[in-house]
Amino acid sequence: MQIFIDSGDIDEIREAMSWGVVDGVTTNPSLVRAASLKRGIVDLKEYLSEICNVAGRGRPVSLEVMGTNCEQMVKEAKIIYDKFNTVAKNVVVKIPVTTKGIEEDEFEGIKAIRQLDSRGIPVNATLIMTPMQAMLAAKAGAKYVSPFLGRIDDYVRQKSGINFKKEDYFDTTTLRRNANDDALNFNEGILSGIELLLRIRKSFANYNIKAKVIAASIRNTRQAEESMEAGAEIITAPYEVIKNMTLHTKSEEGIKLFVEDAKKAKYSELFS
Ligand code: E4P
Repeated sequence: MQIFIDSGDIDEIREAMSWGVVDGVTTNPSLVRAASLKRGIVDLKEYLSEICNVAGRGRPVSLEVMGTNCEQMVKEAKIIYDKFNTVAKNVVVKIPVTTKGIEEDEFEGIKAIRQLDSRGIPVNATLIMTPMQAMLAAKAGAKYVSPFLGRIDDYVRQKSGINFKKEDYFDTTTLRRNANDDALNFNEGILSGIELLLRIRKSFANYNIKAKVIAASIRNTRQAEESMEAGAEIITAPYEVIKNMTLHTKSEEGIKLFVEDAKKAKYSELFS
């Protein structure tokens, strides 16, 4: 299982790489904008090159296009790939699975993925919210598909009138107990991000699909752990969420006691 950092902040990415267990980076326009506001980025090309460099060879960096029709997305993807892949040979271009909502045609994303795959440009299909979107993206040639687990949890909770904070774990068993069947049918029967992930994994296994599944939009450790259990090849999570993965109150209590007892047992004599 691989862990990617979901961030546009170079300092976070640099520190995450120093931990030795982070295998790649995912960015999106919102993350780059947040980094830009925080850091006052002057030269975006230089900044993104540095992100590719800090991640280094063998650790994929997903960079997203901004266009919404097939032609624009393919053109931008080629520019992104040519410009940044020379740095560390690690660029993956992120393409939204559909741009419906802005474009009339539902298939702009899928067509772009197909064209980029035929040109040998690796694609991470983003904004995946259903198993069928994941399957279409994989059929079109995406190397990675990114279901947005947290945003599905947000959607289900909003529709169900459940109050929550962004980082809250979502226990769907409560929802299942309290709702009648009709009330559970609004999202193709998918009641959580983890259910979406499980269904994609099962569908891909049925047809021996090779695209890797990136569990994205991860909000807390328990969701990351459930993604692991569900067999996500990759989990991409924000800096703070990855840091929290190391924590447990009994670990903190335990280390304090060990340090105290080591002093009392004169452990320092071992190292002199
Ligand atoms: C994935 O690649 C996206 O960048 C990301 O995980 C979105 O997460 P969010 O829903 O927390 O914005």
